[in-house]
Amino acid sequence: EKGGYDHFMMKEIMEQPKSVSDCLRGRVISEKNHVKLGGIFNHFDDLLNAKRIIIAACGTSWHAGLVAEYIFEELARIPVEVEYASEFRYRNPIIGKGDVLIAISQSGETADTLAAMSLAESKGAVVLGVCNVVGSSIARNSHEGAYTHAGPEIGVASTKAFTAQLTVLTTMALMLAKEKGTLTEAQLHDLLVELENIPSKIEKVLKTNDAVREMSALYKDAKNFLYLGRGFNFPVALEGALKLKEISYIHAEGYPAAEMKHGPIALIDEEMPVVVIATRDSSYDKVVSNLQEVKARSGRVIAVVTEGDALIPGMVDHVIEVPDTHEVLMPMISCIPLQLLSYHIAVMRGCNVDQPRNLAKSVTVE
Ligand code: M6R
Repeated sequence: EKGGYDHFMMKEIMEQPKSVSDCLRGRVISEKNHVKLGGIFNHFDDLLNAKRIIIAACGTSWHAGLVAEYIFEELARIPVEVEYASEFRYRNPIIGKGDVLIAISQSGETADTLAAMSLAESKGAVVLGVCNVVGSSIARNSHEGAYTHAGPEIGVASTKAFTAQLTVLTTMALMLAKEKGTLTEAQLHDLLVELENIPSKIEKVLKTNDAVREMSALYKDAKNFLYLGRGFNFPVALEGALKLKEISYIHAEGYPAAEMKHGPIALIDEEMPVVVIATRDSSYDKVVSNLQEVKARSGRVIAVVTEGDALIPGMVDHVIEVPDTHEVLMPMISCIPLQLLSYHIAVMRGCNVDQPRNLAKSVTVE
């Protein structure tokens, strides 16, 4: 049942080339500049003309929402707000007709996310669901939606559901961009081609598994970890930190790299591993200077870099190379080494990776 792996989490990490391509199947055909989510039909115009999109979710799904905020605003120029479902539901939010709420959930059973949806609906908003579990409560209680088709996710730590959520949300943004004309045909085509290439690029990143395992041995006794990223990779930093803390019980924090100097930099010393997502994108130069600030304070840096980066390897303790892609799509790739890192550290610490203490796969109580 674990497909020859020791844990479901590893099986699910390794399944990602397949789950992402399953998620794209029939929805994206770059040759024809075709991009469509069949499940969003009656409410497509509401989405297209939305004054505002509000994304509500929890945990990893909330991180997928944060990436989606950057993607929707960049590609489709629609304003997006991302809310913790648990906060949104209790703060008398301003939402109504003309707004669209997108609920993101692997399980489709998260109590706070369900409550956020019914609140939004009661105030007149259109509610769309992005779920993995077919026929789940969130799927049933949304006006329309799109499944992530990642297959059952058993490990408590969400991995393949996250990359599938990013795939659906990117597809949705591209579908809107096409209709709105916010991208040229050529730009749309390039992005669709790149999206179709993601599964093979993930396959390539998964080949770093042995190297990541070796590196994990050096860091398994750390007491704290910091994760830094900017732009599209900022939510990836948050996700990397969540993954580590939930399965290895090492305290970890994710930050937008530039916020470091507003506080967390005080934590940095030779005991503090800092994972920096530093792929070649529009924030690259800025991230390089943030990384130098960490090194100047004796922090130990593990950098996730674009293949062939000639600068960063000379500055840091370890690098993990990932294939290049459009920056909008990079989170689907840059999150993979962080999943592997947390997995190996947790295994080396003797933790129950598939069922971490105090956690449940779906949080059906608030
Ligand atoms: O099923 P959902 O996507 O609604 O679950 C949301 C969170 O409970 C979930 O992502 C949680 O944070 C994971 N354990 C993270 O790996």
